[in-house]
Amino acid sequence: MKYYTLNDGIKIPSLGLGTYRIEDEKTIDEVINTAFEAGYEYIDTAKFYNNEEYIGKALKNSSKNRSNYMIATKIWPSDFEADKAKYAIEDSLKNLQTDYIDVLHLHWYGKDFDKAWKVFMDYKGQGIIKSIAVCNFMPNQLGELLEVGERPVMDQLESHLFLQDPETKQFLDENGILHQGWSPLARGKDNIFEEKVLETLAEKYKKTPAQIALRWHIERGSMVIPKSVHPDRIRENIDIFDFSLDESDMHALASLDKKKRFSNDPLDEEWLEKARKM
Ligand SMILES: NC(=O)c1ccc[n+]([C@@H]2O[C@H](COP(=O)([O-])OP(=O)(O)OC[C@H]3O[C@@H](n4cnc5c(N)ncnc54)[C@H](OP(=O)(O)O)[C@@H]3O)[C@@H](O)[C@H]2O)c1
Repeated sequence: MKYYTLNDGIKIPSLGLGTYRIEDEKTIDEVINTAFEAGYEYIDTAKFYNNEEYIGKALKNSSKNRSNYMIATKIWPSDFEADKAKYAIEDSLKNLQTDYIDVLHLHWYGKDFDKAWKVFMDYKGQGIIKSIAVCNFMPNQLGELLEVGERPVMDQLESHLFLQDPETKQFLDENGILHQGWSPLARGKDNIFEEKVLETLAEKYKKTPAQIALRWHIERGSMVIPKSVHPDRIRENIDIFDFSLDESDMHALASLDKKKRFSNDPLDEEWLEKARKM
């Protein structure tokens, strides 16, 4: 495993487990146990995923001590008013059966994000939240946040070979904010695993196209949180730390960029307004 150090000094693994759309209790239990056996130390969830409670149960019943893994969760824009944000945090703590959360994200930019951010800072001051972060904030939105208070430790963004966005990555690097990629495998869409360049590199390094796609993120200094419900894939996705891609490989992979999003655009005001009402 490779680790990064966040701008608040906390050490974090470069790869964690995504859990979006895993909602069944038994599946969650199996996925978390498989992930822990495979060496995962970081679980990404969100209030919005409706699975915190089952994740909390699975974590409690697992063989790992709380100090040996990190949990990240997120607050949805409909909970950005101060009282609602506090209630949402307390609810996450209860669901996850823990007395602290390692990383708490604002899930999207939206009205009253500044109020929620101040609540985050308060909980961080009390040691209940260890690190505070955002998701889906583009540079101009981060600029607004930086005027309100503390700098986030990371920004979780849709990121994959088909949506490389080097400009935002560079902005985050320059501001000491870790870039974390969601949908790091592009959800397997557009036949990504059949791209010739991925197949060629997979052959070269005796890895799978998915492993090459994930290693590309690590090589450029991002953290990733791939999701799978299949034990073999959960193991495959973390088995990327025994090789590295060179400059010519990275150059070849850059050619796959088609600036294509598979989910909502963080700058789409209609979507942000809709999210706030969800
Ligand atoms: N902040 C946000 O707004 C936001 C939005 C979306 C996601 N996220 C987070 O990011 C995580 C990851 O993103 P994601 O779930 O959208 O997409 P992803 O991790 O890019 O891809 C997941 C898909 O790829 C398949 N897959 C996983 N490993 C594979 C492998 N080795 N070979 C072939 N197929 C594989 C999975 O299928 P199986 O499960 O069937 O194996 C699943 O369909 C989420 O789970 C969530 O925690 C955050």
